[in-house]
Amino acid sequence: MQENFSLKPFNTFGVEAKTKYFTEVHTVDELKIAINFSKSKNLPLLFLGGGSNILLTKDFDGLAVKLHLKGFTEEFIGENTIWLTAKAGENWHEFVLYCLSKNYGGLENLSLIPGNVGTSPMQNIGAYGTEIKDIFVQCHVLDLHTLEVKNFNLEECKFGYRDSIFKQEGKGRYVILDVTFKLTTENHHIKTEYGAIQSELEKSGIENPTIQDVSKAVIAIRQSKLPDPKEIGNAGSFFKNPTIPLRQFKELQQKFENIQGYPNGDFVKVPAGWLIEQSGWKGKQIGNVASHQLQALVIVNATGNATGKEIFDFSTQIIQSVKEKYGIELEREVNII
Ligand code: EPU
Repeated sequence: MQENFSLKPFNTFGVEAKTKYFTEVHTVDELKIAINFSKSKNLPLLFLGGGSNILLTKDFDGLAVKLHLKGFTEEFIGENTIWLTAKAGENWHEFVLYCLSKNYGGLENLSLIPGNVGTSPMQNIGAYGTEIKDIFVQCHVLDLHTLEVKNFNLEECKFGYRDSIFKQEGKGRYVILDVTFKLTTENHHIKTEYGAIQSELEKSGIENPTIQDVSKAVIAIRQSKLPDPKEIGNAGSFFKNPTIPLRQFKELQQKFENIQGYPNGDFVKVPAGWLIEQSGWKGKQIGNVASHQLQALVIVNATGNATGKEIFDFSTQIIQSVKEKYGIELEREVNII
């Protein structure tokens, strides 16, 4: 147990914030000890995975727990199916690479997403046409109220776009211990229709891509427009893509002919990156904070010296601009602490 401990290395924005107490846990028993310590001192808890989806806006007056639960288990279910369970502290991309090395299909479109396996169900991580709900089987969680281990299946997780029970009614109640995915061992379902995957494959002259080829294409696309948190602090998309009623979208089309949107029933999902760019924010820097020059949806710690409060205030200004111009209220995707 460390006291007055800096969380700068534990958040991908790289902002400075101190926690009153800090500990790392490697087993469920160690986790329970940490939780009991926090209960005995009446301290709030903060669980840290990869630190890739949080913004620390102030010091934390509680116990921060870094989850180091590691390991994979495999279970063959049928001819073409394997259930692969990864513990929460496994790095997401290393897990994806492990699956690709074994030729297990299903995760390739989710290559190079920062963060750990344990946080992937929280916001139903997604990219390039796949969300984890598409391959999710179950996860084990520790219930902070009872200290019992529970199992959540696909339905119980209530996954939505960047959403799950763990962000809604279960918020703050459960710690995810491991996650099981259903992957294919052959006859993989190759998904290349999203975004630039197809054109990226064509560049390399690949006509019948393998899952490894798809992964390489996704990695190349991500590297071409998303900043690497190791080089410049960020937490990926800062906002969700807003969903608005079709009627509102049609009204906006009258005023803004080139507005982009992906219809879904009576609603339309509008790319937040486009709204932010059109509101004049792409590449704009105020003090230590900027909207990324290649992807406006990503806010970066441009100088490395930004505070969490500065980043938060910058995001508030973006929300106000987009609201004034388009009447759409952007919602933050990153967890604000
Ligand atoms: N766009 C702009 N300007 C920008 C950025 C985007 O006009 O500065 C337009 C693009 O031209 C494109 C549309 O917005 O037509 C969508 O852009 P993109 O394909 O880059 O995806 P996104 O909607 O901005 C989402 C996810 C990403 C994920 C990509 C690819 C959210 C909040 N973000 O971004 O996820 O990698 O799709 O699937 O849904 C993350 O969550 O951290 C993340 C990076």
